[in-house]
Amino acid sequence: MTDPTPILPPEAERICFAAMQLARGRLVGMPTETVYGLAADATNAQAVAAIYAAKGRPAFNPLIVHAPDLAVAERFAHFDAEARALAQAFWPGPLTLVRPLRQGSGLASLVTAGLDTVALRVPAHPVAQSLLRAFEGVVAAPSANPSGRISPTTAQHVIDGLDGKLAAVLDAGPCTVGVESTIIGWREGQPTLLRPGGLPAEAIEAALGRPLARLAASNDHNPDAPGQLSSHYAPRAALRMNATAPRPAEYLIGFGDVAGDDTLSESADLTEAAARLFDVLHRADHTGQPIAVAPIPDHGLGRAINDRLRRAAAPR
Ligand code: TXA
Ligand code: MG
Repeated sequence: MTDPTPILPPEAERICFAAMQLARGRLVGMPTETVYGLAADATNAQAVAAIYAAKGRPAFNPLIVHAPDLAVAERFAHFDAEARALAQAFWPGPLTLVRPLRQGSGLASLVTAGLDTVALRVPAHPVAQSLLRAFEGVVAAPSANPSGRISPTTAQHVIDGLDGKLAAVLDAGPCTVGVESTIIGWREGQPTLLRPGGLPAEAIEAALGRPLARLAASNDHNPDAPGQLSSHYAPRAALRMNATAPRPAEYLIGFGDVAGDDTLSESADLTEAAARLFDVLHRADHTGQPIAVAPIPDHGLGRAINDRLRRAAAPR
């Protein structure tokens, strides 16, 4: 049995308690102006893996990193003049910017699902702001609902879906915006609407002084269909799954009893394997050898790991 998750009023002491839970790698329900987020320390790979386990997501979609202000956001990504202008116009608020990742910034690779870009947002909600300041860090936070269910706009919604899987939920009443943030990325230098959301595209276009590019294919970026994003990280090398021994020249990524050149988890722990997945794949790819991966059980986080491995194994 898991303990029921406490719903806490957003008082200074409780916010400090929630920040301590984040620092210990636990999950916290965080009110924002858009929807309630399922927050974890974005630099702690095991904590980020726990987000996917709690949501039961069958795939690793990159997550939004929440920062208290632009200066902190710039520690994790590169901003050009146009991105900075949007941040200055609309942050804090329901806008997410996808920017080139700053190498060595310390974000867990699971947050970006191995991509070299990162989605960043500065929430306007005073309780989210207080939590980020008390934590003195940045949090990865998808909406705090089980995969496939609608996004939570009250603390009770969070409990209805995820009771026992979080250390606490801060209850700040209903969210005022009620839909997720608008996501803007840059494609070949063009600001592009990746997800419509709480900030109208027209307001962004007015601030930019030019129209936003839209995605041609409707399934190119569909947050409700995990894995439909075209820009998935995939190793350059060929990848073979369910390998119990390496073939000549192969680099074997082990799991549990299958020892390899490297391992996702010697103790066959799926949370550890998820936390290590993208770092291990990047290292394997750097060797230039074809990659083989040991069998991964297809339950819990293993499903998302296998989904990602199948994509990497698919002929390109
Ligand atoms: O309002 C919101 O944005 C809420 C609250 C909690 O802040 N958060 C939220 O997160 O909606 P999530 O994880 O459900 O949505 C993340 C979206 C996904 O559609 C994902 O594909 C996109 O952001 N995304 C994240 N990183 C990306 C990247 N590097 N490139 C392109 N898209 C990215
Ligand atoms: Mg969601």
